[in-house]
Amino acid sequence: MTIYLNGQYMPIEEAKVSVLDRGFIFGDGVYEVIPVYSRLPFRLEEHLKRLQHSLDGIRLANPHSAEKWAEILTEVIARNEAVDQYLYLHITRGVARRDHAFPNPPVPPTVFVMSNPLLTPAASLLSSGVCAVTAQDNRWLRCDIKAISLLPNVLLRQMAVDASCAETILIRDNDFLTEGAASNIFVVKNGILLAPPKDHLMLPGITYDVILEIAEANAIPHEVRKITVAEVFNADELLLTSSTREVMAITHLDGKPVGTARPGPMFSKIHSLYQEFKHNVMRAK
Ligand code: PDD
Repeated sequence: MTIYLNGQYMPIEEAKVSVLDRGFIFGDGVYEVIPVYSRLPFRLEEHLKRLQHSLDGIRLANPHSAEKWAEILTEVIARNEAVDQYLYLHITRGVARRDHAFPNPPVPPTVFVMSNPLLTPAASLLSSGVCAVTAQDNRWLRCDIKAISLLPNVLLRQMAVDASCAETILIRDNDFLTEGAASNIFVVKNGILLAPPKDHLMLPGITYDVILEIAEANAIPHEVRKITVAEVFNADELLLTSSTREVMAITHLDGKPVGTARPGPMFSKIHSLYQEFKHNVMRAK
């Protein structure tokens, strides 16, 4: 696997960062995950825009223009074998003597890009659906920043793994749905697709946006609004979305069936429209 680190391309085994890197010491950095289909990054512009939002959120200058990012990513894709990949971009506030305050004067950021083969969910999981558990959303109040300090997400996601499930659905203040530990969540009730509004309590998912665009373009009834915990537990269907998992149906929640306990008609429709959209976008390039 060939990666990019601070201006150089190299085998991952040779990539090294200092133990004083603020990413290592403080988790002081942000990241992006971009799917690559047929060797082309999907929704690159939108991912780079969200990266800028994350960088602005932690007051770190963007080390590269959009053109330079595209050049680096194209090179990383070319140097890796898989046709479908996912790019991981990681920027930290650099290497400095340990002090919570920003280094003054600033030091160069650490910029790291790697690519892994993209393994979208197996057909068997798409047809059976997956299970999820719920937990209190105990993260900070800037979940719109794609921060590398992911300890709460790691602990929350592990709760799902410990229950042999695919995801943990997060409930804020015992009251409303935010998202998954590493995904966005949609609720379906009476044929209407419900999505929580983008705010500081959830990551503005790129896949989430695609799903809402698809709903709009195909006259699928949808509403973006606060979703109560009761609506999550009484859903006809629950959907999970992310760049690496695309769209999946959650068919059991906390051990109980969701709707019919089978992937429902909204999932089937959205999933096939998503595949169509993806192929059309890639063909158009
Ligand atoms: N995570 N919410 C959270 C907390 C996430 O970590 C992710 C994605 C999403 C979905 O966003 P998008 O559709 O842009 O992938 C929502 C990535 C895949 C990760 O951390 O690996």
